[in-house]
Amino acid sequence: MTRTITDLDRWIRGEFTGLNTKLEEIYFAEKTLVLRGRAEVDDLTTTLVRDGGALIGKITEQRQLPEHADARYELLGMVGFYLAACRRHEVEPDQAQFAPLALALGASLGVAPRFAASHQNIRNRAVGGAFATFTTLDSERIFLLYNGLSVMAYRRATHALLSVPALGVSNPLATYHLTDAVAALRDVLRFSQALANELDKDRFFYNIRPYFKSYRVGSQEFRGVNAGDFAAVNAIDVLLGLCSPHDPFYQGVITEKYPYVAPEDQELLRSLVTTESLMDMAVRELEAGPPPASLHGNAELLLDACRGHGAATVFHHNKLVAPFLREPAGYAPPEDQADMTTSGSPLDAVIEALARLRDLRAAHDRPGVVTARSTLDRVRALLSAGDR
Ligand code: HEM
Repeated sequence: MTRTITDLDRWIRGEFTGLNTKLEEIYFAEKTLVLRGRAEVDDLTTTLVRDGGALIGKITEQRQLPEHADARYELLGMVGFYLAACRRHEVEPDQAQFAPLALALGASLGVAPRFAASHQNIRNRAVGGAFATFTTLDSERIFLLYNGLSVMAYRRATHALLSVPALGVSNPLATYHLTDAVAALRDVLRFSQALANELDKDRFFYNIRPYFKSYRVGSQEFRGVNAGDFAAVNAIDVLLGLCSPHDPFYQGVITEKYPYVAPEDQELLRSLVTTESLMDMAVRELEAGPPPASLHGNAELLLDACRGHGAATVFHHNKLVAPFLREPAGYAPPEDQADMTTSGSPLDAVIEALARLRDLRAAHDRPGVVTARSTLDRVRALLSAGDR
């Protein structure tokens, strides 16, 4: 790291979080999403926009990017944290200070020139035990911790499922990986439950979620951060046969998130178009004749993994999206309604798309939508026939 980047890193981990925390405490005391025109607030925001802008401006002036891609991605995260905070407090940073740098970093990495969810979980380097945050609020720590753990559990399930095709679904060795995938998906639900229990709804709504909004870099507005911006969840969808990359709705979900995931996740997303589902492989082998014990057991594990994936997605919808976003959004003033989603789309439309994803992942019967329900029923029937 050059001196200018180290200075920015130190500021983000120190003074920056202090300024944001003070501002959040003021907003929270007033139960408002943002407050302008009060001397104390204006002083804090002026300091934030000025000091961060000066530090980033020095890096921009050098017109030189770190050689290593990981260091460039980390720097993009630091610049992005600053910009997300400016957007959150509704102050305008100076485009000349940051845009050439952010755009060059984004272009060199093939990602949107903004901070992404991966900067908060899989690519968030801790110093002295503390990962980078916007504030020192305990609610933010809780959100990032359980969100990060859920993402890691999804990644563990993906790693396990991706190991199966080379072994074949009837292989007794694949049982190890499938058992691991089932356990990892159970962990996703467990971490989401802990999040729902421990996260304060008002703190999330007033003090954390507002940092995830869209912001402008150069002439373009880049959409905000979604906790779902990582590839593993989609790899699980496709490997379990719950979602098809040939379904235009689902293809839209995948392609929309390309610029917002970490570079290595883009490769995984791209590979999904040609990935065969493990469930289809199991059906083919089960239809060939009475299954050996290993195939029978592995097919049961695949069904368990589908149940686990479905349970986590239903929990996300009912116990995270509804109480932490949809319900509090209902009390927000009309002028804030357009600001409730990361994409800027109306909240109802976002929730409707999410409900469709949930029904695919949970293989619900849903009129007008082809889900994996009939395939899962077929696997169960073939397993029962094998038992007779
Ligand atoms: C308070 C907590 C949370 C809230 C309010 C929330 C809200 C949302 C919303 C509104 C969306 C739809 C975004 C859009 O389409 O514009 C979404 C998507 C998603 N979220 Fe969450 N979320 C929360 C926590 C989590 C956690 C902990 C995870 C676990 C990793 C997670 C994983 C996902 C996934 C996988 C998607 C779907 C994206 C996709 O597959 O393309 N969310 N969330």
